[in-house]
Amino acid sequence: MSTLTIRQAKLYDVPALARIERESFARPWSAEEITREIVKNDKAFVAVAELGGETAGYADMWIVAGEAQLFNIVVAPEYRGLGIGSILLRYMAEAAARSGCRNMTLEVRRSNEPAISMYRKGGFHDSGLRKGYYSDNHEDAVLMDREITPEDAVEGSGDLEVEIETV
Ligand SMILES: CC(C)(COP(=O)(O)OP(=O)(O)OC[C@H]1O[C@@H](n2cnc3c(N)ncnc32)[C@H](O)[C@@H]1OP(=O)(O)O)[C@@H](O)C(=O)NCCC(=O)NCCS
Repeated sequence: MSTLTIRQAKLYDVPALARIERESFARPWSAEEITREIVKNDKAFVAVAELGGETAGYADMWIVAGEAQLFNIVVAPEYRGLGIGSILLRYMAEAAARSGCRNMTLEVRRSNEPAISMYRKGGFHDSGLRKGYYSDNHEDAVLMDREITPEDAVEGSGDLEVEIETV
């Protein structure tokens, strides 16, 4: 067992988050883009997952006019399949509920089966398709949404700490 901590991101997390981006995406967010989300963008809420003290993943959402929009959720390759993505997703839903949001939306590449499966398990439903949305390969975007209720906030505010099975 190892301790998984989910907390709000800080400036000192940027190098580790940029490394996870580079390991995970063909078009990663740069350190500057991540910094802007954490420091300058007051609509953004960025959370970091740490496993046994190591940075294991992060998520970024915007909260605008009572709507939460999940922009990114990523787990470092070596930590995938342990449940961290699902726990991060639940944490974001809690944060959205605490901010009074009633709805969370996202878009995901149609070929990204792991992410789509995780979102469905996390209560998201398909709400539409944007044909050829991604400019790099003209892939379709699947639009998904999930209702946010006050019950999503039951775990309370602040950091989340859980023990997870790592072997
Ligand atoms: C999508 C991602 C965040 C999932 O993180 P994770 O910590 O591995 O996910 P979890 O261990 O919590 O798994 C949750 C569910 O996701 C699905 N899933 C995860 N990995 C999967 C895989 N390789 N294939 C199919 N489904 C998968 C399963 O439904 C799983 O539930 P289960 O364990 O009951 O089968 C991770 O694969 C990732 O970082 N991918 C690259 C970045 C990315 O594409 N992010 C989404 C951008 S929209």
